[in-house]
Amino acid sequence: MNAPAPVKISVRNLYKIFGPRPEAALADVRKGMGKTELLENGKHVLGLSDINIDMRAGQITVIMGLSGSGKSTLVRHLNRLIEPTTGQILIDGTDVTGLSPEGLRRLRQDQMTMVFQKFALLPHRTVLENAALALEVKGVPLAERSAEAMKWLERVGLGNFADRHPHRLSGGMQQRVGIARALASNAPILLMDEAFSALDPLIRTDMQNLLLQLQTELHKTIIFISHDLDEALKLADHLVILKDGCVVQQGDPQGIVLHPRDPYIVDFVSDINRARVLRVRSVMTPGLSDDMPPETVDTETTLEALIALSDGDTHRAYTVLNKGQPAGRIDMRDVVRALVPKVG
Ligand SMILES: Nc1ncnc2c1ncn2[C@@H]1O[C@H](COP(=O)(O)OP(=O)(O)OP(=O)(O)O)[C@@H](O)[C@H]1O
Ligand SMILES: [Mg+2]
Repeated sequence: MNAPAPVKISVRNLYKIFGPRPEAALADVRKGMGKTELLENGKHVLGLSDINIDMRAGQITVIMGLSGSGKSTLVRHLNRLIEPTTGQILIDGTDVTGLSPEGLRRLRQDQMTMVFQKFALLPHRTVLENAALALEVKGVPLAERSAEAMKWLERVGLGNFADRHPHRLSGGMQQRVGIARALASNAPILLMDEAFSALDPLIRTDMQNLLLQLQTELHKTIIFISHDLDEALKLADHLVILKDGCVVQQGDPQGIVLHPRDPYIVDFVSDINRARVLRVRSVMTPGLSDDMPPETVDTETTLEALIALSDGDTHRAYTVLNKGQPAGRIDMRDVVRALVPKVG
């Protein structure tokens, strides 16, 4: 196994309570009072309760949960648009809750950038000027920032649209501008709050693929908010599921699908296409023996692709290759078993 990537953002014991006297309500929450009871008891809304998450450099951390579960509240703590009631947010080991106004300005300008659900493009500026916006704010000279913005517009497939105005582009194209603008800022952290939720399903799939493709080269630390489980499973290296302000489960998305630890998550995962989501690595038996099967398959192959490869023959078995090296085996019977959720 490779060593895990270093932690870029660490959220520690974070609580957020909205209302007139959050400190007093915090004591109740710490004693175990939940969101509903807290609201019934007074005027306080439990935004986040005891959140602990390590977000690793170069990975996509997806925060998922239903409306009102606290996703936006969490992501707004990362750039301190919201102050925590208590807790820490460490970025590269520095607690940003203690930053001076100047430190905070630098954090927002140099470390992170946002991609918004509603694109947030300036209507009177051209696509190129929009893409160059972060660089303009930083005071980068016109020629230099235009060249840099153009480079990113080309990367997202909009090289020919630089002189247009945003309203002449489709929603998917506008969000491509949003992504080019974020990447042109050169910040290592990308915050994406429901960035693809306003798009039509096919366009949305295109954008997910674009993001994954860019990520194979750019290795940004991406915090992606979604209420869509299929999207979350497709994008996440690390998946965090929120409910009523609490983390109900977090980890490798494949592990969560195979071993949901909460009835809420069992419900969530019951509708997904497991064959498409699960990969060979999550179902294989690791280790080598004397009689490894002659046919091979890669760890990252989906079960759907493997079923096609096996022609539906449940007697077959494959040697699993991890980066070209034998790492274990997979029997088609285990594949079939993994397709139905475990009962009990
Ligand atoms: N400024 C505020 N004052 C009071 N309550 C708030 C405030 N901001 C958020 N909340 C409450 O905190 C909870 C979490 O809200 P949040 O916006 O983070 O949810 P979300 O998961 O982003 O939802 P959505 O999917 O609808 O965007 C909700 O109950 C919300 O009503
Ligand atoms: Mg939200």
